[in-house]
Amino acid sequence: MERCAPVENAIPPMTDLTADNITENVVAINSTCSDARGKFIFERAVHHLHDFAREVRLSSEEWMIGINFLTKVGQISDDLRAEMILLSDTLGLSMLVDSIDHPRIGEVTEGTVLGPFHTHDAPDTDLGYTLHGDPDVTRLFVLSTVKDTKGNPIADAKVDVWEGDSHGFYDVQNFNRQGPDGRAVLHTNSEGMLFFNAIVPVPYPIPDDGPVGAMLRFLNRHPNRPGHIHVMLQKDGYDKLTTALYPRGDPFETSDPVFGVKESLIVDLGEVDDEIAENYGVKKGTALLKYNFVLATDEEARAMREKKAIEAMKKQNRKMKMLNGLPIPDLD
Ligand SMILES: [Fe+2]
Repeated sequence: MERCAPVENAIPPMTDLTADNITENVVAINSTCSDARGKFIFERAVHHLHDFAREVRLSSEEWMIGINFLTKVGQISDDLRAEMILLSDTLGLSMLVDSIDHPRIGEVTEGTVLGPFHTHDAPDTDLGYTLHGDPDVTRLFVLSTVKDTKGNPIADAKVDVWEGDSHGFYDVQNFNRQGPDGRAVLHTNSEGMLFFNAIVPVPYPIPDDGPVGAMLRFLNRHPNRPGHIHVMLQKDGYDKLTTALYPRGDPFETSDPVFGVKESLIVDLGEVDDEIAENYGVKKGTALLKYNFVLATDEEARAMREKKAIEAMKKQNRKMKMLNGLPIPDLD
């Protein structure tokens, strides 16, 4: 965060602090920040945090437990251990923010959690790539298209794909990780086709040996995610899509600890037939996942985001205006 350039007005003097007026005092001392959107976010965050403490009558002991918990979330995190993302995911915040920032548009493929296992070292490789080196797996051929909302193929979209191994572990969970496995970066061809060799995904527990795992146990929650393959699609001019596909019938389909499953992302697997076997050099009878991704343009996504924001502001009875597609208070 860069330092916010101060506006001209002086900080309003604080009044004698009480549990009832401290919120207004914090908002006042933050009020000389000139970043309208940042100031609005802090103002509302302070209001909700303070109201939360007042509402539950938070004790000092309880808040210290909270501070120690958040400290541990930070301490266990590094480049390959994304505990903060896990916390956001397990509290439902990641899915909420995704649904606000990428509201549903017609047949556009819905998004879901990025999760803590995406990396930036996957091989940039060709269509037809085999994600896993492990030979002892149930193969799955993924055959899909990437199109726009008018049905036109999107060529040369960058597609990150990643999934766990046959035991449900991602490569980054291997202490002896030699390099990427179970992940790749692919590019759609001129017809918008996307195909690669994966394995039938299996359920797996999110890492539960840290503070987030302790939180789940406290809440009597299980850590098991339904099996899925992550897919992230990017192309200039189109809204970035971070999503995942979930084979139907997983025992954890309706109790995902990160709330990532959506009906439109549940897929029925088929089998590779003679034609697909011949065209793509895949063994007949291999499990088959067919899916057609649809991307919104940046303009379509921005228009829907703004429409939803205006609807939400009307419900809140706030006098607001839009700045770069996001709401800020209208003080004029
Ligand atoms: Fe995952």
